[in-house]
Amino acid sequence: MKRLRPLAQAASIAIHPLGVEELFGLFDPVFSRRQLRGVVTEVVRETPQSATIYFRPGYGWRTHKAGQWARIGVEINGVRHWRSYSISSAPGQHPSVTVTDIGEVSSTLVHNTRVGDVLFLAPAQGEFTLPEEARPLLMMTAGSGITPVMSMIRTLIPHQKTADVVLIHSARTEEDSLFVDELRALSAKFPGLRLVENFTGVSERFDMSTPAQLDAVCPDWRTRAAYVCGPEGFVSDAEALWTRSGTGAAGLTIERFHTELNAGEPGAGGLVTFELSDKEVEADGESTLLEIGEDAGILMPSGCRMGICHSCLTPLRAGQVRDLRTGEVHGEPGELIQTCVSAAAGSVNLGL
Ligand SMILES: Cc1cc2nc3c(=O)[nH]c(=O)nc-3n(C[C@H](O)[C@H](O)[C@H](O)COP(=O)(O)OP(=O)(O)OC[C@H]3O[C@@H](n4cnc5c(N)ncnc54)[C@H](O)[C@@H]3O)c2cc1C
Ligand code: FES
Repeated sequence: MKRLRPLAQAASIAIHPLGVEELFGLFDPVFSRRQLRGVVTEVVRETPQSATIYFRPGYGWRTHKAGQWARIGVEINGVRHWRSYSISSAPGQHPSVTVTDIGEVSSTLVHNTRVGDVLFLAPAQGEFTLPEEARPLLMMTAGSGITPVMSMIRTLIPHQKTADVVLIHSARTEEDSLFVDELRALSAKFPGLRLVENFTGVSERFDMSTPAQLDAVCPDWRTRAAYVCGPEGFVSDAEALWTRSGTGAAGLTIERFHTELNAGEPGAGGLVTFELSDKEVEADGESTLLEIGEDAGILMPSGCRMGICHSCLTPLRAGQVRDLRTGEVHGEPGELIQTCVSAAAGSVNLGL
């Protein structure tokens, strides 16, 4: 991860004269007009596998809406990796993300981030946000899915007397449960938050195969604006329940952190030509074009890596690709494709 070394940088001025950008960067690590950055100001351990990272954003950062997420870039062994993280603080508060260790980037963020580290940032975005007009809300979250909802709760509960939120949160154990103390304190202090906890390590999972359990804990759930965020199975169970109940998935606002991709077609790939990089790679028809490009050392734009954020859009110059979410083969010259969810379906030329 990038650390500040102002003395070493200052010493190098005599050898390599600095531009205005670099000179300001010596005094303020987040000063950059080219790349939005944030400097880590605090790291709070939340559970054994997760941490909240507070940062001071630099030039170009705009306050997020509660529930939105931002792309965070982290340098690991000299390679910048981008991932998406929901902002867990309320708008106007010190911005923070709460990361759970799942793989390479999250593990680095959770275990190796130190105060003073510089994170690369992209502006906050996303549609998982509070309704324009105040309404009774039902939030259903599991695991790290609580993070965008925590921003909403911090926004609403202490400040809006009329807030009416039922939060059903699942975690494996109390020890794994993010923000457990803060949520309990808020629900004890403010009648506008009713907290229903479900610890799947010690009791049954919240049952969404029928409406019975939801009817029992939140009888007016059908009339509330509902927000769901959690692992894929949890989110799709909620979607199915809302659809079956006749309430319709339209009453449900969903945030997915992960998309399951299909296996693709072994042997159905072909030669992938990265025209601007002057590189050719044989693709297997199963790997994503993003992985193939990265493995070939090409600087591939990316963000969520699961078809959500559109940061990886790349012009297709020739050939067709398979969408690994649906299996559909598509592609016209000039079409922008999402390399993170596309595999080669024959030979492909990309404008990268
Ligand atoms: C809109 C959005 C908001 C997000 N907000 C948060 C957040 O607030 N906190 C947070 O911790 N993460 C969040 N994520 C997930 C995050 O972007 C990364 O995907 C996650 O940290 C794993 O990245 P990695 O590099 O560590 O693991 P990778 O190396 O990318 O993945 C390791 C393995 O885990 C699988 N995987 C990746 N993510 C998940 C997942 N969420 N559930 C199950 N399997 C997964 C991958 O398919 C792979 O097999 C969010 C994702 C999106 C799209
Ligand atoms: S990286 Fe987000 S859609 Fe491809």
